Amino acid sequence: MNEIEEIKSKIDIVDFIGEYIRLTRAGSSFKGLCPFHNEKTPSFNVSEERQRFHCFGCGKGGDIFTFLMEMEGLEFREALETLAERAGVEYKKGNAFSHQKNTNTKNIYTLLQEATEFYEKKLWEGEGTKALGYIKSRGIDDETLRQFKIGFAPSGWHTLQTFLLSRGFNEQDLVQAGLIVQKEDENVSSQNRTYDRFRERIMFPVFDPLGRVVGYSARVLPGENEKNAKYINTPETSVYHKSRVMYGLFQAKEYIKKERTVIVVEGNMDVLAMHKAGFKNTVAVSGTALTQEHLTLFKRYAREVVFFFDRDSAGQQAMKKSVEMGYRQDIPSSIITITKGKDAADMALEYQKELQEAVQNARPSMEYFLDIWSKEYDLSEAEGKKYFAQETLFMINAMTDEVEVSHWMSRVASTLNVEIDALYSLLGKKKQESRGKEYLYKEKKEESFFGENKERLEILDEKASAFCFFYPKVWEYFAKEYTERGRSEYIAKGTLFAELLFSGEKSEYSFESVRLLLENSLRARAEKAYHDLEIEQLEKGPLSFGEAKKELLYLQKEMEKEFLRKNIKKMQEEIYEAEKNKKYDTVRELSEEMVRLVRRMHSVQDN
Ligand code: CTP
Ligand code: MN
Repeated sequence: MNEIEEIKSKIDIVDFIGEYIRLTRAGSSFKGLCPFHNEKTPSFNVSEERQRFHCFGCGKGGDIFTFLMEMEGLEFREALETLAERAGVEYKKGNAFSHQKNTNTKNIYTLLQEATEFYEKKLWEGEGTKALGYIKSRGIDDETLRQFKIGFAPSGWHTLQTFLLSRGFNEQDLVQAGLIVQKEDENVSSQNRTYDRFRERIMFPVFDPLGRVVGYSARVLPGENEKNAKYINTPETSVYHKSRVMYGLFQAKEYIKKERTVIVVEGNMDVLAMHKAGFKNTVAVSGTALTQEHLTLFKRYAREVVFFFDRDSAGQQAMKKSVEMGYRQDIPSSIITITKGKDAADMALEYQKELQEAVQNARPSMEYFLDIWSKEYDLSEAEGKKYFAQETLFMINAMTDEVEVSHWMSRVASTLNVEIDALYSLLGKKKQESRGKEYLYKEKKEESFFGENKERLEILDEKASAFCFFYPKVWEYFAKEYTERGRSEYIAKGTLFAELLFSGEKSEYSFESVRLLLENSLRARAEKAYHDLEIEQLEKGPLSFGEAKKELLYLQKEMEKEFLRKNIKKMQEEIYEAEKNKKYDTVRELSEEMVRLVRRMHSVQDN
């Protein structure tokens, strides 16, 4: 086994990719939203068996090496180093790959790691203790400090530089990592031409999703000039990209995935305080407004974003913009209202009970804003109505889902007591205004059918349909049985599978011809189902007629159960309604029907 094979055998691709994006099991493989292109419905597949990934949307595919290279923009050699280290595999530097000399990226990481250890050590001794005292006075405990590797940059113009040079790094490395600043002036001596960028500051290392430090956010001590340079951040380097930085993401990642929610706060201090308070799915967009890149990143891990911004007007303004941007990418959001103090850190320090409640009471963003605006504007006046409509339409205009749009349109119309048509014509104007603007990340509207929380019935339906495509003989068998026994009543009407049984003969049991018979939304589902099973088939090899039949029988049974379950539930509700309205004849009829369904359910279960 060569090094590469050994590394691959030690790192499971599902675990590895799972650190970057949320994967869910789908049959024998895993699925998620592709990190390489923007999409709303998962077409990114990871096969555990083959240890490879493939995206049906953008066509990217490969193994852990390709993934890491694409994801972090690494050269093969750098990916090899990273993965070898992770797998605990020694590899000979003199092997075939060493002709690529670019070791710079690796150097930057080692350098930053050493710098981080240096700063961290300084926080806990000597000069650093006043910084330590300050952070602790804000309620942050040792464990959190250690976890985030919080440090202190000592005073002096060459403290870090002297240390790192003694560790064998050169000046150029330090400049490239953004740790020292180079003066323009050519006439001064070499030492004086450069100086430490961070001095007498609390150091917040910024990690990438693999846990490597890529840069710093450095805060002044209290009492210093908080107005001008409260924070100094690492400049753009080969590893630090401001628009992608998300403070706390590495530490929060696991929790975000678990809870499927990410809480976004404004400041680094807020992140520490929230983690300390037990809300470990918290991150901050440090110093920049939320970007589309951030949202794309959130989408990899979470279903919903919860904004927890400062109480001041800047915070509120930023929140509006962020929510609107979320709508453009179809990311639902909620808002936490600060009830005490000025920000999350304040609440975590002094108002823990209120904090718990505030998080619990997070409200969907539109609800929140409608509430705020209906208080802010006088809705009994034409003027107030106008502003209220403008604010709300700004949000609605960003929504991509028609159902959502129409929901909020009628809400606004009834709140304002105006004709909904009038609102729609205003919205039309808005749309025209924003036309021509490029929304790079807004994708074309897709069928919402494949949403992540697709119902079980739909999953079964697609799987069963795909089986038909791959096993025409089995398809034919089921179609004949279907017509003979007249089971139409029990096979979920309107499903793709039912449609296939119905039009199988006409299309001679061929995927290619039945595709053309299906209406658009069903066709899209059929194609998707086909591709999903295709991977599985490639991995596992084809099934025999008997095996495929068994599988399809199982799927059909499960579908029937699911269908019956739904109908029984619906019927229970109808019976309840009828009873309430004292329509006893209806109650009796419905009850009989329900008994029939329940019986049928038992018989499906038993055989
Ligand atoms: N920030 C920055 N540059 C500044 C001010 C702020 O990069 N001059 C970024 C920092 O990442 C900071 C965030 O914006 O964490 C929010 O700013 P602020 O609320 O002022 O800082 P906090 O970290 O919350 O500090 P504190 O609560 O201690 O005042
Ligand atoms: Mn703050």
